[in-house]
Amino acid sequence: MSPAAIAILERARRSEFASALIEGLSHAQKRTPAKFFYDAAGSALFEEITELPEYYPTRIELSILRDNAADIASFIGSNAQLVEFGAGALRKVRILFDAMTKPRGYVPIDISGDFLLRVAETLEAEYPHVCVNPVVADFTQPIQLGPLECSAMHRVGFFPGSTIGNFTRAEAVSFLKSARQTLDNGPLLIGVDLVKDPAILHAAYNDAGGVTAAFNKNLLARANRELDASFDVGAFDHYAPYNPVSQRVEMYLIARSRQRVRLAGQTVSFAQGEAIHTEDSHKYTLESFRALAAEAGYAQRKVWTDAGALFSVQWLEAA
Ligand code: TRP
Repeated sequence: MSPAAIAILERARRSEFASALIEGLSHAQKRTPAKFFYDAAGSALFEEITELPEYYPTRIELSILRDNAADIASFIGSNAQLVEFGAGALRKVRILFDAMTKPRGYVPIDISGDFLLRVAETLEAEYPHVCVNPVVADFTQPIQLGPLECSAMHRVGFFPGSTIGNFTRAEAVSFLKSARQTLDNGPLLIGVDLVKDPAILHAAYNDAGGVTAAFNKNLLARANRELDASFDVGAFDHYAPYNPVSQRVEMYLIARSRQRVRLAGQTVSFAQGEAIHTEDSHKYTLESFRALAAEAGYAQRKVWTDAGALFSVQWLEAA
């Protein structure tokens, strides 16, 4: 792409960020769009979160994948093309490829083009016999993938990280339906975080070192950097309680004092103690996720979990 084309895309992205932010902050209950968490600074902070002692999901999911790699690979079968929804979990995909018989293809789907290309190049170099076809797209919609290539015989979806938990229940059902279409009714290997002792959840989303707080606040810092907004980032507190009725961790930023913020030609006012809802992380029981998957036409055929039942990796097949 030419520098001029990149500049045009960058401007379009910023104006999308600005309108989404203004839209979210115009509601009585202010909210911000979660997809803008992951700029370079946000991605680096999330990487740091995954290494925190309190943040169990990444570590436990990796251990489940490692401990059950052979069994998972037998479900995937030989001559498979892996389709990953969201690119970036290279560590996870490597565990699968190392255990699979005759892996044939890897199709990472992500909206972030440059990140996606880096992931694809790395994988291509490491697995010269696997055909890598990155797709820049929004994976919440069905995607036409084109015919299988490179002797691949079937498609298997992969959606690790319990990113499905960041969708509402309705969005999760709609994502699974789209994925099933994208995969031509092929199976899906998915990471799903589980309902557990609220104290463990609270610690995971309110770490002692404040990395999660920094990650949450980066959204405001990013608005200052990219949109020339005037958020006093230090005047907001990170607050992430577990709601045991909705079975989700709710992420907020709370204004410590009354303030006005300039944002793309508009002014947004905050009362003292007013909250911005930034994201939810839904937790499921094996039963509640089975019911959700069933609504999308998927049957829960196999579940792998850790000894403490903190996290699950599930094999879904079109019902
Ligand atoms: N997908 C991550 C999760 O739900 C995202 C996340 C972790 C997050 N910590 C956060 C999002 C703090 C917002 C704020 O576990």
